[in-house]
Amino acid sequence: MDQLPPDAAILEAAAGALPSSPAARRRTFAIISHPDAGKTTLTEKLLLFGGAIQLAGQVRAKGDRRRTRSDWMKIEQDRGISVATSVMTFEHEGLVYNLLDTPGHEDFSEDTYRTLTAVDAAVMVIDAAKGIEAQTRKLFEVCRLRDIPIITFINKMDREGRDPFELLDEIEKTLALDVCPVTWPVGMGRDFRGTYDLLNNRLLLIEGETVREVPLTSLDDPALDAAIPPERATALREEALLVEAGFPAFDLEAFRTGHLTPVYVGSALRNFGVLQLLRGLGRYAPAPGPRAAEGRTVTPEEPALTGFVFKIQANMDPNHRDRVAFLRICSGRLQKGMRLKQVRTGKQVPVNAPLFFFAQDRQVAEEAFPGDVVGIANHGILRIGDTLTEGEDLAFRGVPSFAPEILRRVRIEDAMAAKKLKRALEQLADEGVVQLFRPLDGTPWVVGVVGSLQLDVLGSRLKAEYGVPTAFDATPWNTVRWVTSDDPAALERFRREASHDSAEDHDNALVAFFASDWRRRRAEEEHPGLKFHEVREQH
Ligand code: G4P
Repeated sequence: MDQLPPDAAILEAAAGALPSSPAARRRTFAIISHPDAGKTTLTEKLLLFGGAIQLAGQVRAKGDRRRTRSDWMKIEQDRGISVATSVMTFEHEGLVYNLLDTPGHEDFSEDTYRTLTAVDAAVMVIDAAKGIEAQTRKLFEVCRLRDIPIITFINKMDREGRDPFELLDEIEKTLALDVCPVTWPVGMGRDFRGTYDLLNNRLLLIEGETVREVPLTSLDDPALDAAIPPERATALREEALLVEAGFPAFDLEAFRTGHLTPVYVGSALRNFGVLQLLRGLGRYAPAPGPRAAEGRTVTPEEPALTGFVFKIQANMDPNHRDRVAFLRICSGRLQKGMRLKQVRTGKQVPVNAPLFFFAQDRQVAEEAFPGDVVGIANHGILRIGDTLTEGEDLAFRGVPSFAPEILRRVRIEDAMAAKKLKRALEQLADEGVVQLFRPLDGTPWVVGVVGSLQLDVLGSRLKAEYGVPTAFDATPWNTVRWVTSDDPAALERFRREASHDSAEDHDNALVAFFASDWRRRRAEEEHPGLKFHEVREQH
């Protein structure tokens, strides 16, 4: 529905009035929300603005799949769709937007967390009738860990929802985040007439299938009274005064540091308010910035290529065990045919056929820039957290592993398959499907997952792709911590004393298993020289 003239400020910025390097034109973001708030619908509408229409149907397919497990498995196995929808790139008003998809089901939140390490901003979608829900909150907390700037979109204004002031209050209080309304609803539900842009004094009215823009000098402008009924105009003036008195003014710095969220309202379903949201992203969300690596900070302007792998997508074809690693570019320019260094191993990785996700006109891109994500097909060489460079020994930090709460012992019927199982589990751990622990006392593998759906996926993939049928047995543990210490002797003592309740993870880091939080706290008290970590950063 939104059909407005192009935004002059954004066009100007993209044309070079502001820095116009390829990196400066990128906006790399994710959408965070609770299921059903409207993420899929909003994604579709954003893609339509960018002309990536051919993807819209696929997004819907993905939206539908979240409901049943069998559908999920089927569609995920239909290779291609999930890879294509993992990264959606589109152009709008001279800027390039990379939208990184995060899986909707909460069992896959670990994957979501990792994806959030690769974005520069997030859009938080809230259902106007429901406010902040559990999953929104959880995802917000992850964004906060990295101070990711967040733009809020209050969706479903075309339905009866809660009072906007109440919603803003809830965002402010539950998330401890300053809110700054940018667009304000004129009416709600059946009376939803449009929005008023508080920053730019523009009234946008829904008229049938189109949008009418009414420029105003201020809210005292008589043009307002001519455009909407008098009681609506009075209500809008009163509400705008309350907004001015009750909320901070928009402050770009506060937004960019994750302390303030600009709030847009609209209806994704009716495509109203989506364009303003997109322009808000273009104007305010940061272009790719400097990124901390061990030892130094990398800036996007540096000529040499650097990037890190935040996601691995298995190609479900059992005959070709190809996997696509998603590389977020942090500096330089990636071209086909480059050879990159995998810093963890020192090996050279040829990038002969990188998948560029630039969907405009279905052209295959030949190069990618900071902020972009490219898919690199490989046979299990790359892992989550890997840094790739043109030669420099550099490691980006911050792709996290979270302490899993479901810990199961892996059992195989056929002892002869032990070697095969080891390889399979190691590969799946590289992909981040599961966390893998090798108990110090030599007993069989323990796998850890954050959600039980991951176990189903693990079991079916072990059988279908690797031909190793497995069962998962209960363990006495329900929590795990990574153990570190400045004192190697204390660590060694702990390894000996707790050998039946500890293991090494996929990177040979020491972990301790606990049967309860109480036991964990007791161990922490008994070993003051040790540190027990709930999150481990891979590098
Ligand atoms: P999700 O990806 O966040 O889980 O949400 P999704 O977009 O799938 O939307 C969830 C439901 O909310 C869908 O309805 C969708 O049509 C509806 N919806 C999304 N945005 C709006 C909006 O702005 N206004 C209204 N009124 N509804 C909205 P459904 O009945 O579950 O699915 P469908 O049969 O319509 O596809």
